[in-house]
Amino acid sequence: MKNIRPRQDENAPKVYIETYGCQMNVNDSEVILSILQDEGYVLTDNMDEASLILVNTCSIRDNAEQRVWGRLEQFRLQKNRRPGVLVGIVGCMAERLKDKLLDSHAVDIVAGPDSYRMLPGLIRNVTPDSPQMDVALSHEETYADITPVRMDRNGVSAYISIMRGCNNVCSYCIVPYTRGVERSRDPQTIVREAEELFANGYREVSLLGQNVDSYLWKGASGNVDFAGLLAMVAGISPELRVRFSTSHPKDISDDVISTMAEYDNICKHIHLPVQSGSNAMLEKMRRKYSREWYLERVAKIRSVMPECGLSTDIIAGFCGETQQDHLDTLSLMEEVKFDYAFMFQYSERPGTLAARKYPDDVPADVKTSRLNEIIALQGRHSLESNGKDVGKTFRVLVEGTSKRNADELFGRTTANKVCVFPAGGHKAGDYVDVKVLSCTSATLIGECVTARDGR
Ligand code: SAH
Ligand code: SF4
Ligand code: F3S
Repeated sequence: MKNIRPRQDENAPKVYIETYGCQMNVNDSEVILSILQDEGYVLTDNMDEASLILVNTCSIRDNAEQRVWGRLEQFRLQKNRRPGVLVGIVGCMAERLKDKLLDSHAVDIVAGPDSYRMLPGLIRNVTPDSPQMDVALSHEETYADITPVRMDRNGVSAYISIMRGCNNVCSYCIVPYTRGVERSRDPQTIVREAEELFANGYREVSLLGQNVDSYLWKGASGNVDFAGLLAMVAGISPELRVRFSTSHPKDISDDVISTMAEYDNICKHIHLPVQSGSNAMLEKMRRKYSREWYLERVAKIRSVMPECGLSTDIIAGFCGETQQDHLDTLSLMEEVKFDYAFMFQYSERPGTLAARKYPDDVPADVKTSRLNEIIALQGRHSLESNGKDVGKTFRVLVEGTSKRNADELFGRTTANKVCVFPAGGHKAGDYVDVKVLSCTSATLIGECVTARDGR
């Protein structure tokens, strides 16, 4: 069996990897480590002993990029102190800015999301006078044959990328430009990867794509769609939990919803980014659904799975957003009552349709106050949702020790709510039943009602 944990070797050259952005980037860093381990590198947590420093970057909002610019200053200091250290920028910012990153920032290597197989060659060819770059995007690359080397600490929960790129053109979004066209990965390689993780003690896999509902593999023996893939992965073992993200409201199908209901081990949680509650904004964002369509999908999900967790993404202050548009977002939130949400101010991304077509005209202070209202409302809804769980008992997959208290464990319910409780002899990877005694807006607090021997 292929070793999926980082290799140890005192004398090998060391690579230090920092990762920003989404879960797909986290998984990409694991693919990169796999490629570099085959070249003899081992992973280090300590930047000071690395001969290669890589930063896997995100371009989704300007502040994501600003954070990386700040880090590049740190890496420049490393190069000054330890000549010979190589610094590479990979991922979405590498793809967006290309040679602009080479100009003035003491960067040796620039590699886009589809160029990770080229890294060994780029590293070999780099000299102080000739930095190396590969930012070609591919129509086929899915890294299907590469077994990611897992960098998580818990050994319980892992990401599996099932597709890459995105064919939607949401007008605000940079992803189609940094990740290229959508392509699905061979389902057999996905199932094999999940089986291998299960055999290594993992108990949860999250299937990742920008729009998982458009997953489609055209194979010699027939097509596999996302519902089909879910059933294949869920069939590996009832002890393996399956999660997925991101679902697109325009594409999530009745088949996916009924497959979720059919398998106990497919977690009852859907991340369904709505972005806005206003039809005018949704149209301008090119999301290709309406408020009414979105609410119908939510009603369908809840009619089939009443206990299904629902989370979302919301953008405040998109181009031309009026106070009424904003109120429409708040009223949609009231109608749905999401369990949790990721909420952002609109950040114009150069080269996107919105940047070319619509002025970024909502003043910064208005964006901020609208975002604050959205955050406050969501805080109330999250607390209300968690409050409804007090007194109930949930099956929780233990992920590790609570950050705040070493005598407590944490894990998640099927609806993706984080739960903390006294350890009582249990450990990461165990399934336990937890009775919820109290809550905050972010966490359920409970006691384990499963005996130590698991009964
Ligand atoms: N593929 C997913 C989301 C990918 S990006 C989907 O379609 O929903 C994650 C989230 O970042 C988006 O859902 C959106 O809410 C936010 N986002 C994307 N571009 C943004 C921008 N230019 N400004 C602010 N938020 C943005
Ligand atoms: Fe961006 Fe839209 Fe694609 Fe999501 S579906 S990655 S928001 S373009
Ligand atoms: Fe960021 Fe790229 Fe992911 S822009 S959100 S790292 S796909």
